[in-house]
Amino acid sequence: MKEKIKIFLPEQKVNARIAEVAKKISEDYAGEEVHLICVLKGSVFFTCELAKRITVPVTMDFMSCSSYGNDIKSSGVVKIVKDLDEPLEGKNVLVVEDIIDSGRTLSYLLDILEKRNPKSMRLCTLLDKPDRRVKDVAVDYTCFEIPDEFVVGYGLDYAQKYRNLPFIGVVEFVDE
Ligand code: IMP
Ligand code: MG
Repeated sequence: MKEKIKIFLPEQKVNARIAEVAKKISEDYAGEEVHLICVLKGSVFFTCELAKRITVPVTMDFMSCSSYGNDIKSSGVVKIVKDLDEPLEGKNVLVVEDIIDSGRTLSYLLDILEKRNPKSMRLCTLLDKPDRRVKDVAVDYTCFEIPDEFVVGYGLDYAQKYRNLPFIGVVEFVDE
């Protein structure tokens, strides 16, 4: 089986929606600074495009998580592979995610970050698959709600491939 990528959300549409969300964020944080937390690797493209369009002062930090073995499905326990460089104390933290699926990873991550005493903490995601939710997470900013399909591009991967596609595509499997 070979995979074929079908364009689902073209680049222009994604960027236009990111601009709208960035405008809303800039309004909501007027007079404040916002500290973006990019969850590697999937969120890196989205974080950059969002940051470029936010008009209030922005700082950024990066973290990387992985699940403990294959237990993620049952426990939702994640291991921090690369932690943040800076403390969150007193900051307006905006966690930037590529996609929220079951919500397990994020709900665990948000609990960890909340304990670091940020001034405020919100969540922004490029994509949301609400039908797949197992663990409730409060999403403050969503660019697109999508059906339960496996998507790639704009940072999202299939077996580490396709992150660099400038659009969001659906993976289709075809006979060679
Ligand atoms: P969950 O919300 O804990 O189930 O996990 C979300 C993570 O699963 C995301 O950060 C992605 O790494 C991955 N993921 C879920 N759905 C997709 C998809 O459609 N394409 C690529 N990665 C996905
Ligand atoms: Mg992710």
